[in-house]
This record gives sequence, C-alpha cells and structure tokens, in this order.
Amino acid sequence: MVSTKGKSLEGLLTEFRRFYPSTDFKNNAYITSEEIFKKAEKDPEGFWATYASELTWYKKWEKVLDWDPPHSKWFVGGEINVCYNCVDRHIKNGRRNKAAIIWEGEPGDTKTLTYWDLYREVNKFANVLKKLGVNKGDRVAIYMPMIPEAVIAMLACARIGAIHMAVFGGFSSEALRDRINDCKAKLLITADGGYRRGSLIPLKHDSDYAVKDTPSIENVLIIKRGEFPLRIKKGKDFWWHELADEVDPYCEPESMNSDDSLFILYTSGTTGKPKGVVHSTGGYLTGAYTTSKLIFDMKDQDVFWCTADIGWITGHSYIVYGPLAVGATLFMYEGAPDWPEMDRYWRIIDKYGITIFYTAPTAIRAFMKAGAELIAPYSLETLRLLGSVGEPINPEAWIWYYTNIGKKRCPIVDTWWQTETGMIMITTLPGYHTMKPGHSGFPFPGVSIDILNESGNPVEPDEGGYLVLKQPWPSMLKGIYGDEEKYLEKYWGKWGGKYYFTGDGARRDSEGYLMLLGRVDDVLSIAGHRIGTMEVESALVSHPSVAEAAVVGITHEITGQAIVAFIVLRDNIDKDFDLEDSIREHVSKKIGPIAKPRKVIFSSELPKTRSGKIMRRLLKDIAEGKVLGDTTTLTEPEVIDNLKKQYEVIES
Ligand code: PRX
Repeated sequence: MVSTKGKSLEGLLTEFRRFYPSTDFKNNAYITSEEIFKKAEKDPEGFWATYASELTWYKKWEKVLDWDPPHSKWFVGGEINVCYNCVDRHIKNGRRNKAAIIWEGEPGDTKTLTYWDLYREVNKFANVLKKLGVNKGDRVAIYMPMIPEAVIAMLACARIGAIHMAVFGGFSSEALRDRINDCKAKLLITADGGYRRGSLIPLKHDSDYAVKDTPSIENVLIIKRGEFPLRIKKGKDFWWHELADEVDPYCEPESMNSDDSLFILYTSGTTGKPKGVVHSTGGYLTGAYTTSKLIFDMKDQDVFWCTADIGWITGHSYIVYGPLAVGATLFMYEGAPDWPEMDRYWRIIDKYGITIFYTAPTAIRAFMKAGAELIAPYSLETLRLLGSVGEPINPEAWIWYYTNIGKKRCPIVDTWWQTETGMIMITTLPGYHTMKPGHSGFPFPGVSIDILNESGNPVEPDEGGYLVLKQPWPSMLKGIYGDEEKYLEKYWGKWGGKYYFTGDGARRDSEGYLMLLGRVDDVLSIAGHRIGTMEVESALVSHPSVAEAAVVGITHEITGQAIVAFIVLRDNIDKDFDLEDSIREHVSKKIGPIAKPRKVIFSSELPKTRSGKIMRRLLKDIAEGKVLGDTTTLTEPEVIDNLKKQYEVIES
C-alpha cells in the first residue's frame, strides 16, 4: 500500500513517499505497536532479559549487565551453550522433523537437513573436532564454500566451546594466512572446493598456500564437496567423512559462561591490518535471536533466505545463529546470483517457497539493471517480507525492490548494523512502522543512538553528523582480538570514551527517521563489504614496481563504491597495460578479487599537503571527474593537472 499524495510511482522520489504494511501483515506480526519501544526505554535491561529468558540456560544469570565502559558483560553468572539453543532445543520442542536447512548448490544439486539431521551431524562434527585435539577456547579457522557443512562446522565449534574464525571463501590465501596467524588458530576447516559462476574454487589448494606459513595450524579438516583435485598431507590433512565414521554419535555440549567468546570475525578498519572482532556467547545469541524474531517476524512456517556468505557477519547472525535459535527453516545457496542467468534468485524463491528474503543493495541494483523482464516468469507469491543490508539503499532501488520483488505487498526492512554490533541496530519493525525509502528507520528497542557534531554535541534534526551508540547492547563486541589499544582508540577515542563511534555519518529527520550517509572514515564499501583504503594501499606497495599508492572510493551505480588506485612507480619502471593488470592481480592475490582496483592511474607524484599528507579528497574529485576543491595547501599544484590529464585519457 502506498501513499503517493497524487503522484505516480515513478515520480515519487521526494520526501512524500510513505509505505505501510498491509493489514494482513499487521494482523499477524509479532510487533504492531509502540509498546515495546516504551518498555525497552524504561527498562532496557529488563527488555533484553525477557528475550534472553526465551533461550535455554544451564544456569540463570545473576546480573543482566555489568557495564564497565567501554566493556560490557551480559547475563553475568549465566551459563549457556549456543549450539544447544540452535539445535538440541528444537529436537525437543516439536521441531525435530522440521527442515532446518534447505540448500541448493550452484550446479543445481539440493539437500535438506531437518533439525534432527542437523543434530546428528553437529554431534559427530563436534566429536571429530575433539578427536583432532581441539579444546574449549581454541581458535578454529573456517574457509568454506556456502554448503551446509559450513554451518555445521560453526555449530560444532560452539558446542565444544572452541572459538571459530570464518574467512570469506572469496578471500585470498594470504588473507587467510594473516587471519590465522593473528588469532593463532589450531585447526583449519575447509572443503576441496566450491562452485562459483560455473568455476571451481579450489579452497583446499588455496589453503595449502596459507598453511605453509601458519605455524599454529596442527591439522586441516576437509569437507568433500565435489571431485576437486587436491593434495593430502598425511598425518596433517583429514577428510571429515572418514573421521565421522570413527567417532561417537553424541557430544555433550559445553556449559559456557555467558561472556565466553563465541567467535572472532575479521573486518576492515582504517589501518592496513584487519581487526579481529570478538563476540560473546549469551549476549550475542540474545541479540541475534531477538532481532531475527522481531525484525524478520520469523514464524514456524517461514522459509528465510539471507543471501550473505557465512564469511561475513550477516551470515553469522542471520544465516546461522539468529534463525536457528528461533527454530526457523533457513535456505542457503552456494553460488552466484547471475548463474547461469540473472534470474537464479527468483527461480529459487519460487522453487523453495521463500517467504522472507534478505539481500544487499548492490544485488538489487544489479537486478534493476538487468531488467524486470527476467522476473516476469516468476510469481514470487510466497514472499511476505524483504530486507536490505550492507550499505544505504537508494530510494530508486528501494522502490524497484518493493514493486518488482515484493509486488507492493511485502514490507522492506532496511537494516543498519556492523560486524561490531553483531545484530541489527537500526531498522523499521515491519508490522508497525511506516516505511520511508532511503531511510533505515529507528533504533531497535533497547538501542540508544545519537548523532553528534565534531565537538560531541547532538546535531539538530535534518543535520548530518556522526552516528554513535550511547548504551551497551547485548551483542556488542567484546573487543579486538589481542589489541585492546586499538579497541579503545578506534571505537571510543573520539569523545573521550563516552560513546561508541560507528564510523558512519547519519541524519535524523523531524519524524525521527534515520538516514545513513555512509562511512566518514577511510573505509570503503564495495558491494556492501568493508575494505580499508590502507589495506589496499599496503597490498599495492608490496608490488615490486610500486613505490607509492593512494586509494579512493568513487561512486559506482551497482556496487555503491568502486576502487580507484593512484600509483607512483619505482624508478626505471615503464608503465604498460601488462603492468596495470599485474598490479590489479597482485591486489586480488593479496586480499581477494573484491579489493581489485577498477582503475589504476599512474602518476609521477601524489598530491600532498605541505605536511606530507596525501590529499585523498583531491584524488577523489579527480577520479569522480568533479571540479577540484581547494588546492592551496598542495606542494606541487601541477601534480593535479598531470593527474587530471591522465584520467581524461583513461576515461576517453
Ligand atoms: O557503513 C555501514 C554499512 O556497513 C558498515 C558495516 O559493515 P560490516 O561490518 O561489513 O557489516 C555489514 C553488514 C551488517 C556500516 O558501518 N551499512 C550496513 N548496513 C547498512 C549500512 N549503511 C547504510 N544502510 C544500511 N542498512
């Protein structure tokens, strides 16, 4: 239902647009009134405790929150096991033969695991981990394609209290190696390979390169996905299916303290080195569970599909932990959205009867570009709720998503959150709020935000500022693995430890709707994934021909941002087309294909201030073809002219 104030849909891109959940949706939704916000505001701890109580605890907590800024401990004294809550609970509460995971591989093979199947697999997997010497507190790296065993591996770690550290399968072996070395993982779980866009991704082969230089890894456990060529190192590498036959079918879940670590997940920041964000057990699960249930309005009959990879936080919270804690049926797909055709997602939605679909704006924009004809053959009639995550969804894409995929019937939740927050923090609640395209919505109940100016004072309505979080929330990160100083500085340094700084800009309108304005630090958002400029620059300068590098993000119609690299070559190196390719490939090898610069611009110098700082703002203007800003502080103004000329040549 849409209020157009007399305008046609195409002409709606103004502040007048409002969309309402249908009466049918409202009548059946968990949250349909403001009451929950009032309750949570009055007593946030009581609010979170209510939802934590819906989980099964071995021992109830003595205190909901111990807040010793900037560290919070949730459900202090409580003991819980995350795997028990995601699996065992459901085989006892009537969901035993309900589908937990419905999976489709890229080649079209499928598999369904009931909660009972999942229980049996997870138990065996946990015993295999133990057999390989993994103990409570040990770190386990997971480098997997999107197959059910990835979820099973995570749950098995949680069952025995090992801390998993998943690495996106699209990352390079060097990225895997660095993450393993940072957290000193003992075991690496991988697969022989996976399918992506019709190609085989040789994960075990790539792992071999990483593991050469990771002294902490004692064993590699391999899942068999297909017939992928690989080398087995006797005594070190083991097949999961072979060990599975040798272990007991049951593994007692470990009773964990609520504040014990559940997982580490690396994310990009403003430095060259990704940060290991550490999440807790009881608090994290409470956050993932509550938000899954209330924001996605997850019911027993739903089939929930989150298109993220389990290597990202979205995969952790909204493929694995949130939906399984709720007891939902989740759908998982291995491959690319455009394989073999750009209609793969719609085909899947109709085939499996997906009811809730959660994806990223970059995908939505790619579908828009491909054209609505590709959707025409599909009914999409089972859908009842849509979600968006990872970057701001521009109103045009929002309307397209609402009209073409949701058929003007499904509310859209535009969910803002981060690896560090562990759960969705800003959104609308689909059965209650009116939606405003381009605006994420409101803080989730129990979440307290503000928007500040540079001096730390709240800004006026409609004024942009820095988005901060004022109060702790249950799935708040515990810290940065092995780097307390960075934790304090990056998140709490800006205003003397008073607020958690998100790194994002935001604006709140007079009705309280929040609009996210993107990163305000040196972090790029490529197809909704965070990449630090420093990370790419470090990779670039490690190329033997590169002396200096600066990277900027430019606006891109599909991926949100694209990377442009400005390069100064070492003396006596000639630039040619091969060199540009070799530099781009080098970054891909160091980090992964998503970090590959779209353009490389060679220069004899980079524009710098008199104090020697690279003027990224100018580079961004050049890369975006804009009129240049102030160049008065530049040491050599002609550097800019030369760069501009070169850029024009590349563009033409
Ligand atoms: O800039 C915000 C953007 O993604 C960042 C977090 O990235 P990451 O930790 O990789 O987690 C992504 C998935 C949760 C944020 O700081 N972001 C995420 N969701 C939105 C968003 N920007 C605008 N609107 C969103 N809905």
